[in-house]
Amino acid sequence: MLNILLLHGPNLNLLGTREPAVYGRDTLADINGRLAELAATLGASTRALQSNHEGALVDALHEARAWAQGVVFNPGAYSHTSIALRDAISAVALPVVEVHLSNIHAREEFRQRSLLAPVCVGAIAGFGWNSYALGLRALLQHLGSSPQ
Ligand code: DQA
Repeated sequence: MLNILLLHGPNLNLLGTREPAVYGRDTLADINGRLAELAATLGASTRALQSNHEGALVDALHEARAWAQGVVFNPGAYSHTSIALRDAISAVALPVVEVHLSNIHAREEFRQRSLLAPVCVGAIAGFGWNSYALGLRALLQHLGSSPQ
């Protein structure tokens, strides 16, 4: 059984009411529930964590070394700013798939660059909650355990 950390960054606790035209109406609990179900069908299990604090996200990545085999990570706005999270991803040497609900490449210029993407195994953006599902499938296939 593969254990996957589903990590959510700042403001994602507000999903459901936060700018629904951009991020949809699904809540974080909806997304976590769907991902847990999907993981079960693929022979994996997810543990979800959200924080608005950069250091707590760094801690979660460090702690994941002890129990997780990979991470599906929506870093929110920290994608565009955080050298600390980039260094943490490099340091823990766990495969991380970066996901975004919105297509960051079609938005403001400051969102079009992710500092984290170069140290992730890949990135998926623009498919709403399905970005997380696609990210989980991609991570499990990367880890070599999932049926194709
Ligand atoms: C986001 C995109 C980021 O630019 C933004 O700061 C978020 C959400 C997304 O999922 O589309 O908080 O990561």
